[in-house]
Amino acid sequence: MAADLDSYRDQFPVFERRTYVNSCSQGALARSVRGAMDAYLDGMDEFGSLWETWAGKQEEVRELLARTLGADVGEVAVTSSASAAVSAIASALFQGTRSKVVTTALEFPTIGQIWHAQEPRGVRVVHVPVDRDQHLDLRAMGDAIDDETALVSVTNICYRNGAMVDVPAVVALAHERGVPVLIDAYQAAGAVPIDFHEWGADFVVGGCLKYMLGVPGIGFALVNAATTSDLVPTSTGWFAARDIFSMDIYAYDPAKDARRFESGTPVVPSLFAVAEGLRLLLDVGVDRAWERSSALHDALREGIAALGGRVVTPAALHGPMIAVASTDDHALVHAMGEDGVVVSCRDGNVRISPHFYNNDADVESVLASLRRHAHLLA
Ligand SMILES: Cc1ncc(COP(=O)(O)O)c(C=O)c1O
Repeated sequence: MAADLDSYRDQFPVFERRTYVNSCSQGALARSVRGAMDAYLDGMDEFGSLWETWAGKQEEVRELLARTLGADVGEVAVTSSASAAVSAIASALFQGTRSKVVTTALEFPTIGQIWHAQEPRGVRVVHVPVDRDQHLDLRAMGDAIDDETALVSVTNICYRNGAMVDVPAVVALAHERGVPVLIDAYQAAGAVPIDFHEWGADFVVGGCLKYMLGVPGIGFALVNAATTSDLVPTSTGWFAARDIFSMDIYAYDPAKDARRFESGTPVVPSLFAVAEGLRLLLDVGVDRAWERSSALHDALREGIAALGGRVVTPAALHGPMIAVASTDDHALVHAMGEDGVVVSCRDGNVRISPHFYNNDADVESVLASLRRHAHLLA
């Protein structure tokens, strides 16, 4: 039987010192994740190099990601960041006559920047706007996808305000028009249940340092085996080769599965950490994490409204994070930090992002701090 959610809290030392509600930036560090990084270093001290264990870690992380995200193991590329995953995908696109990317106004900078970086290759980028409630305008999205469109690229949950996009609706709109879809699921992975096969997207990218409880250095691409087998990246490396140890410099023979979107030597210390983070997350269960963070999100929303604060995150269709408007978001993050409450900010809003390890007492601490600094609420 799965353990009670509150019993996991002791595994995160940060809670002995702070009210940590900043998982949209970085997940709290579990003792087991720290232990895994120590194990990597201990192995170096003991044996000097451990190639076989290291290669095994990459496969362990691939398998854990597949289980967490509802993908087949052969559909998972383990990369060094979400950006590396998207850049490898970009290098495989635009080989035909279609040269337009339809994306949104909700994207993380790296997504917009990578698509605009393709402009010298003849690519045109269109950003579909959001409505007043921060929701993607699906009608405008449908209108923007045309015969020239090579890809629809949409975030699942906006990093600025927590607005959630209805992924199956976007996939349906794009696929009806014969266009593949890339979903940036970084703010959802580990926080909200994701089933890659149910989504039906062609690519899903993200990374492991936030709600997946890992550390920097590991991203992923889920690559739909049924729809993308003809796409072969030109941004590549020896870890993308069919046989990594063929050591052939006279030919390019990429892996047939998602591994073809990988590149060079994996970020091995991070693989050790991420494997433990994912194991812990699977033990908790993303369903249960989402249930807990949704309840805390609602309690925060109610408390912030009672303080006269303005919640920017839409009331319907949102992720765990709640964004609150501030007259000086950096000053408010600093002031809350002085109270021992760790949050972050983007775009004039303070972001409070609960996960399964947070509880009602954390909500009280956040609200007490906001009350103390209410003059910084917009
Ligand atoms: C939604 C989203 N996409 C992409 C990224 C960037 O990922 P990476 O730094 O791994 O490229 C982030 C990081 O915060 C993010 O929140």
